[in-house]
Parts: sequence; C-alpha cells; structure tokens
Amino acid sequence: MFLVAAAVLAHFGLRLTFYNRLNSMGWKRATIKRTEKIAFVETWVTPCVMGWLYGSDVWDWIHGDVTVISLPAWGIAYAIACSVLGLVFGSLWLLWRPIFRVHHVPVVREVQVHDVVNRTGRSLARTRKCRWAAKLPFNQIFQMSVEQIELPVVGLPDELDGYKVAHLSDIHLTGQVEPEFTQHAISAANEWRPDLFALTGDIVDKQPCVAWLHDLFSKASASDGCYFVLGNHDTRISDPDVVRERMKGAGWIDVGGLVHSTRLRSVSCALSGNEYPWFSRPSEQAMRGADAEFRFCLSHSPDQFDWCRRNQVDLMLAGHTHGGQGRLPIAGPILSPSWHGSRWASGDFYRAPTTLHVSRGLSGVHLLRINCRPELSLITLRCSHA
Ligand SMILES: [Fe+2]
Repeated sequence: MFLVAAAVLAHFGLRLTFYNRLNSMGWKRATIKRTEKIAFVETWVTPCVMGWLYGSDVWDWIHGDVTVISLPAWGIAYAIACSVLGLVFGSLWLLWRPIFRVHHVPVVREVQVHDVVNRTGRSLARTRKCRWAAKLPFNQIFQMSVEQIELPVVGLPDELDGYKVAHLSDIHLTGQVEPEFTQHAISAANEWRPDLFALTGDIVDKQPCVAWLHDLFSKASASDGCYFVLGNHDTRISDPDVVRERMKGAGWIDVGGLVHSTRLRSVSCALSGNEYPWFSRPSEQAMRGADAEFRFCLSHSPDQFDWCRRNQVDLMLAGHTHGGQGRLPIAGPILSPSWHGSRWASGDFYRAPTTLHVSRGLSGVHLLRINCRPELSLITLRCSHA
C-alpha cells in the first residue's frame, strides 16, 4: 500500500517539478501555455490509464490475494523512474522547506498589515471578477504586508550601514485592480524616506494600463534615485520599450541589461540590472570591468542568484515567484515559477558572496493569495561579517 501511495505521490510531485521549471523558461508565452496544457492532460491520463489497466491487479496485491503483479516492462520502468526521481527531487524539496532555514539569513522583520481597502476608503476591484475574488474566504490580495527588514549584507561597506532601500516588485497592472493599490505602496514607502527605490519587474500586463505609469511612479521619491528592471509579464505589452520610456519619463532609471556606476553616500556602487531570460543581462565582461566597492543587482528572477554569485554581487533583489502565491502551513510554498522550484520563492538568503532578498511582490494576474500577503519591502542594510 505504502509503495503504491509513494509511486502516485512521486508521479504528481514530478509533474509539479516540471510545471515550476517550465514557467521559469524564457520561451514564448504561447509555447509555455501549450506545453502546460499537454502536461496537465498527461498528468491525469497516465494514472487513469494505469489504474484502468492494472488497478484490479494492484488492489488484489495490496489485499494479499496475489503475491506478484504482472506489469508490462514499460510499467515497471516507469514505476522505477518515478520512484528514483521522486526520491531525488522529493529529498531536495524537503530540504529546502523554509522551516529548515537552509541558506536563509536571519533578519529582524517588523510587519504591519495594511488593509488597503479600509485605508483608501474605496473598493479597489475594477471588475466583477476581481470583486468576486476579493470576497473569497482567506484571500489576502488587498492586505498589504509592509515589512521593515534589517538585512545583514556580507561585504557591505561601513558607510552603507543603515542605508534604506524601498523594494517594490511584481506590480502587475492588469486593469483588474485600481491603481490606488500601487499608489498606497509608493506612499507608504515615501513616508519611510528611503535612500533608494528598487523595482524588480512585472510592472504592467495590459496595454491600457501603460497610461497609468507616469502618474503612479512619478510620485516615488528617494535621495539616490529610483531604479527598475522589467520582468516576463512586461513582454505582454506590444512594445516593452514604451514601458521603459514611460518609467524614465516618471523619473526612474532603467538598469535592464546594464551596469550603472553611481555613488551611494560616498561609496562607489555598480548597480546592475538582470532581466534574463526574457530580456538581457550585462555581459560578464561588463560585470568584471565594473570597479566598485559595492555591487548591487536588481533581477526579476531569483534564478539569477548563481549569475550574481559568479559576478561577485554583494546584494541582489528579486521578485517573480510571488512567494508561491499560496503557502501551506509547515510545507510552505508549492507553486513557484523557478528552475529551483520553491527554494527561493520568497525571503532572505545568503550564499557567498551574495545576499539575496526575494519579495512576494505586490500583485499578480491570479487574483488569489492564500497565507501569502502582497509585500512591500522596506530594507535597511546592515553590515555583516558572517
Ligand atoms: Fe510577477
């Protein structure tokens, strides 16, 4: 009985593993969606066909009526492959559960939940679908978690101890939610008086919302400037360069695919933008050529963590995975469009020499967040010599 349950669990676990990796690829959206549909059908058809062909034999075996099940060679091969791969991926999946804190950085985190509907005094749903979704029990789409995080950064120059970065990610202007939701995040960040704003992609999904960008983002204010990169959802706009232009028009600096040299306080900083695999990332030559005391990278996907480590980045900020969009008690996130599954779905991590903060993001195309509130990260950098 245990073996059959393990084989079924491995079958579904491996499909979930495939789904997460598929959505981390830089392929065209249509190709990903088509592959996803085929994989979804296969996920259910394979166990149904096996159950239909051999279910009664397995049942007899479980109950001890027969001692041997006569499965065909392909069935045995499939069961063995599932068990081995399930054991490998399942063990890693278990190891990376947030409760085990592998590669996690201990941070001081002060959380304030803003019920944005109450605070703005208006309904934030623009469509019937969104109004309906917002009423679902446990749905947290409008409960913004404003998180003040004291983040220890290995390699941070002493002059930058206490430096304040307001990190926004995954705005997802789809037209389902009123822009006041994003406006609330920017106002809350402004009140905190950051030294720098960082936005890590997925800004806009629908063409008409491009018109909102200037009014929304021109209100952000930080002494050392506002920087952004684009994400995979920004490819849904007919010309993503228009998004870049509108953001620049709102006073933001585009670092996508670039290494931008600047000074933060008196410290020389190489501020790079990694939009891979959907757009570009700086060449490793450009990264090597940037001589700076502090190396800071904005990336849409946390999958670029190893790239940042190779390029001696001290601090990387990312989004994209939305914290899994929903999280189970103890097990944590399950769905996460990353090559590493839900390993870097959200939180603070360190693997030498890079410290990584992954935001759960502020919104999404799926109007559902369970145990996974939208996040506004207000990060105070702290020197760490760990
Ligand atoms: Fe996103």
